[in-house]
Amino acid sequence: MKAVTIKPGQQNSAGLGDIPTPEPGPGEVRIKTIAVGVDGTDVDINAGLYGEAPPGEERLIIGHEAVGFVEKTGPDVSEFFEGELVVPTVRRGCKERCPSCKRLEPDMCLTNNFQERGIKQLQGYMADYFIEKPDNLLKLPPELREVGILVEPLSICEKGIGEAFKIQERVVWSPEIALVLGAGNIGLLSTFLLRNKGIKTYALDIEPEDSIKANLVRRVGADYINGRNIDILELPGEIGQPDMIIEATGYSKNAFEAMQIIRNDGIVCLLSITTRHEAEEVCGDCVERRLVMGNAAVFGTVSSNRDHFQMAIEHMAEIENKWPDVTHEMITKRVSLTDFAEALNKTAADIKPVVMVAA
Ligand code: BGC
Ligand code: ZN
Repeated sequence: MKAVTIKPGQQNSAGLGDIPTPEPGPGEVRIKTIAVGVDGTDVDINAGLYGEAPPGEERLIIGHEAVGFVEKTGPDVSEFFEGELVVPTVRRGCKERCPSCKRLEPDMCLTNNFQERGIKQLQGYMADYFIEKPDNLLKLPPELREVGILVEPLSICEKGIGEAFKIQERVVWSPEIALVLGAGNIGLLSTFLLRNKGIKTYALDIEPEDSIKANLVRRVGADYINGRNIDILELPGEIGQPDMIIEATGYSKNAFEAMQIIRNDGIVCLLSITTRHEAEEVCGDCVERRLVMGNAAVFGTVSSNRDHFQMAIEHMAEIENKWPDVTHEMITKRVSLTDFAEALNKTAADIKPVVMVAA
């Protein structure tokens, strides 16, 4: 079968190669891959900044946002039938079986010895086929087939927003204003979820007002803010103080500015992985004073578990109903497996490039 692999640590090493098609063992199924989404993590992995091959192997099959169908079931599989559409989860628990991994919440692993398909020590999904256990697969309704690759990124937003609400049980809280920094795929999907909850939402990016990003923000009834025209620190004068801020720009200066404008009792959710290592100038006193005097909370969140995937599938169906096509329009590029490099060449205007593995 064909697979896109990279050599960890090496810049621009992605290549399409032939490897043996894996056979499902007992309790395993073989998935025929339909499509794989590309995100910033894949771009960073291909830049040599991130990613680890399985122990003893030189190359890593990339891809962690996938949709496919069950093509072959191994012995002792009763959960799935051939032909069923599925979405796989990403993270697998640590060998030590820490309390979080034992609770089937590997996204909260304590040891850092977890594994992630297509990212850390486990082969990914950008290949004709992959093998999985039923526990790591979710059934996808056929009407979501086209946008199934968005379930994984949406699961990340589900976790972030869900945790924010859990943490906020510390206070009587009904958020009036949410602010999402960044309208890339995580920022947009978070905006959709917040609007689906009926919260007044603003989303900021630096793309023009007539860009796809800005249009998608407005389509779900949120307001688009062009970050080129206004400083984050000045936003409260324009829109009021946000009760909840989601940082999804990957730029830490924005995170620290968010902490300075959060409303009393509010919460800042850090949802992006910064790959730069810049020393930015930040008014530390301003951050600390706002958080303390405002009883405000800040937390970081990464990865997601099966429950978040399940919620993502449910909410995606709701979003499709309320605002048909918004998720489809996030897919700004569809390329074939042989043209995978075009998907990895993500531009700022690209929201979600997708590699169509099967036609
Ligand atoms: C993936 C997460 C993963 C994280 C860090 C993200 O792109 O969506 O599942 O935990 O990268 O590796
Ligand atoms: Zn663990």
